[in-house]
Amino acid sequence: MQSYYKTINCAMVNESHDSIKEKRIACEVATRYLKDGMSIGLGTGSTVNILLDVFDEMNLCFKKSTFVSTSDRTTEKALKMGLNIDQDFSGELDVSIDGADEIDPNGNLIKGGGGALTREKIVAYNSRNLIILADSSKFVETLGKFKLPVEIFRLFLSGTVKRLESLGCECKVRDGGQFITENGNPIVDCQFKSIKDPGTMEKTIKMIPGVVEVGLFVGMTNLSIEGRMEGAVIHRYKELNGL
Ligand code: A5P
Repeated sequence: MQSYYKTINCAMVNESHDSIKEKRIACEVATRYLKDGMSIGLGTGSTVNILLDVFDEMNLCFKKSTFVSTSDRTTEKALKMGLNIDQDFSGELDVSIDGADEIDPNGNLIKGGGGALTREKIVAYNSRNLIILADSSKFVETLGKFKLPVEIFRLFLSGTVKRLESLGCECKVRDGGQFITENGNPIVDCQFKSIKDPGTMEKTIKMIPGVVEVGLFVGMTNLSIEGRMEGAVIHRYKELNGL
């Protein structure tokens, strides 16, 4: 069975030096929004990985903070750094910080390239604020060039795939079904090319029995930080709540 870690690592190896630099710039700016004592959701992927490195390099102290993680990989790194992870946290998190695969001008997202979309969405939904960090290549006019990840149950997998295809996309079960999420499910990557109405698409896909979660995050982002070689651009979509 192909591991979750392997996929993430491959993605990182293929990344250009510039995109890594841009992610780092976004992460450095993001630290301005974080304070010791806050409850913080941590996403998954290379950007969050860089963010944790930046915490270390900047000697930021989060001794009074509680973190909720969206994957074993993030948890492992956070614990090594001495951060306090509490997966039983209840109530609302002050903020969730995550990366994304595509971001449209309204802050709607495609996420799940690393397969952690379900936990990322739950954590983001239970946060007062969602801040997205990304390199400039992730900002697009219309979502859909990146294949939309959908986590599905194995039961009646081919029936679920057919229903997804009837929405006008080409589907590929990730790694022929060898890729399994931390929730024990396969992922289907759906090539739409262009998703004109992400809100309707999100609801339509969620209505298909067999779908666990879809990697469309609509209307959830408060702010995104776009790392560029010459600096960071902050995109605001909604008021920040208490940050
Ligand atoms: C993980 O499942 C994803 O949602 C990631 O947040 C997304 O793929 C962005 O990944 P990078 O931070 O590696 O670009």
